[in-house]
Amino acid sequence: MSLVTLDGVLKEATEKRYAVGSFNVANYDMAEAVLNSAEKTGTPVIISIAEVHLRYLNIDDFVEYLLLRIERSPLPIVLHFDHGMSFESCSLAVSKGFSSVMIDASMLPYEQNVEITGRVAEYAHRFGVSVEGELGHVGGGEGDLREGSEVNREAFTDPSMAVEFVSKTQLDALAIAVGTVHGPYRGTPELDFDRIARIRSLLKTPLVLHGGSGLSDRDFQTAIEKGISKVNFYTQTSLEAVREVKMLLDSGEPVSYPDLTRLAVRKMEEAIVRQIGVFGTKSCR
Ligand code: 13P
Repeated sequence: MSLVTLDGVLKEATEKRYAVGSFNVANYDMAEAVLNSAEKTGTPVIISIAEVHLRYLNIDDFVEYLLLRIERSPLPIVLHFDHGMSFESCSLAVSKGFSSVMIDASMLPYEQNVEITGRVAEYAHRFGVSVEGELGHVGGGEGDLREGSEVNREAFTDPSMAVEFVSKTQLDALAIAVGTVHGPYRGTPELDFDRIARIRSLLKTPLVLHGGSGLSDRDFQTAIEKGISKVNFYTQTSLEAVREVKMLLDSGEPVSYPDLTRLAVRKMEEAIVRQIGVFGTKSCR
C-alpha cells in the first residue's frame, strides 16, 4: 500500500464517519512512534511535518528516511506538510516528495486566502499531491505551553463561505474553526458541533479538526459523528513523553540516553494508539 494522498485515506473515512489521525513529528523518535502505532493497530495514518518544525530537521535526510520507511509498510500512509505558510514552501514540499500539503493562509483576508490556496492546489494537483486549506482561523500555538490559548469565536468558519471556498480553490480537505486551538486551552474547550454538522451537510470534502490535544474522548466522538474525518494531534503526545522522561530522571536512578529515548517512544506510541482507538480509525487488516 504505502505512500498515498489524503484522498487515499479520507474518502472512506468521510463516507463511513470515522477519522484518521494526523500526528505531527519533529524528529526521528516521533516518526518511529507514529509508524509503530500504525503497524500495531493496522490502521492508516497521516504523518505531518509542520513548516515551523523544519528548524529541528534536515528535511532532505528526514524525508528520504520517511519515504523508505513508508515504502516498507503494508499500510496506507500520507506524508503531509502541515501549515505551509507560502506558495514557495508548499511547492518545495511537493518537490521533496510529500504526498500532501497544507497551505494555511487563514489569517489573510478571504480573497487572498482563495487566491493562494487555489494556486497551491492547481500546482500540487499537477504532481498528484493533495491539498488542505483552512477557512476561519484556528488560533493558539504549540509553543505556548504555559498559558494556553483562548478560543476566538469571531474566527469560526462560515458554512456558506466554506462552500464557495472549496469550489473556488478545488482543495481536497478543509480545516475548519469550530472552537479548537493549537496547544493547551485556557479553560475547557466547547466545540460548535452544530457548525460541523452544517458544513458537513453542505460539503462532501473531508473536514479537518486542528488542535486535537486537550479535547475529551466525547468531544472527538461527537465531532467525528457530525462530520470530521481528519484530526490533527501533537502537543499531548510530546508532553506525555516529556512527563515520563522527567519521572524517570526524578527517580534518581542512573539511566542511559538510549533507555531514556526508548521510554519516550513507548510513551508516545501508547498515546497515539489510544487516539487511533478514540478516532475509530478502521483497520486495513
Ligand atoms: P495540537 O498540538 O493542539 O494537538 O494541534 C496539532 C495541530 O493542529 C497541528 O496542525
